[in-house]
Amino acid sequence: KNVAIIMGGYSSEYKISLKSGNVVYQYLDKEKFNAFRIHILKEKWVYVDANESEFPINKHDFSVDINGNKQVFDCVFNAIHGTPGENGLMQAYFELLGIPQTSCDHYQSALTFNKRDLLSTLKPYGIKSAESYYINLGDKIDSNEIVKKVGLPCFVKANKAGSSFGISKVYKKEELNTAIDKAFNEDDEIIIESFLDGIEVSVGVITYQGITKVLPITEIVSENDFFDYEAKYEGKSHEITPARISKEQKENVTEIAKKAYEVIKMKGYSRSEFIFIGNEPFMLEMNTTPGLTTESILPQQAKEAGIGLSELFGSAIDEALT
Ligand code: DAL
Ligand code: MG
Repeated sequence: KNVAIIMGGYSSEYKISLKSGNVVYQYLDKEKFNAFRIHILKEKWVYVDANESEFPINKHDFSVDINGNKQVFDCVFNAIHGTPGENGLMQAYFELLGIPQTSCDHYQSALTFNKRDLLSTLKPYGIKSAESYYINLGDKIDSNEIVKKVGLPCFVKANKAGSSFGISKVYKKEELNTAIDKAFNEDDEIIIESFLDGIEVSVGVITYQGITKVLPITEIVSENDFFDYEAKYEGKSHEITPARISKEQKENVTEIAKKAYEVIKMKGYSRSEFIFIGNEPFMLEMNTTPGLTTESILPQQAKEAGIGLSELFGSAIDEALT
């Protein structure tokens, strides 16, 4: 099978995606799959060969002309974080072309990438989240209203972004405007949430060999004030798998993460973040193209479950093709 590994993307996360994509390329079972690295960047969509030579992708059928031979793909492995790989755009494109891909379908991708819409969709199913306040670009900003609703400290986040780009923890009302400006650099919608003071965990849920599987849970211990970009990618955090949580906490969060996956009709990989208040998990967000570098959380969880990277990546393709 010819597999196009798409990586890069148009958001601040493109460098992380290139890392994820290259790890997929490295570990994909070469006896089973013909792997092709495809860079999806603002400036260009190109196939990159082993010598780093680039060949433009033909966008009308996602084929590539390699020295006079037209190459087409049986499946796409999606390793793009953020737009256009994690918000439904690439999914819709491949759905129209009839090319199977490893992440969820376009609607689920767009829905989950929007923190506000995801959390409000899950609320009627009893899945809790922090008290929140939303702002669209151009809205009048009333700091008193915000503080009245969510309290202090609070988190100001871009509604549709990843890897903590645009996030600030705000302690004083006077810091709100700067934090809001920063979040607007990443997105035109903002979500402001109450600070939840508890253990943070990350829960991977995947479809593996045809069944929904909850991977061992990871506890996030950040050296920084919260699990920000530096904590995530520059070693300023400890990720402990399995998490040091009680049996009841584990049961509750496992049930909720699985329920969220199922009610949304998720496919492929997902990794959701929660904070415990007592034994009750509060959902922060869901990532549908989680980081896949060897240090990333989902691969660590798979390893803990006895699933190696080649199996993890190969299984995603097998699922997409069934
Ligand atoms: N958005 C990053 C890549 C993650 O969720 O792992
Ligand atoms: Mg995220």
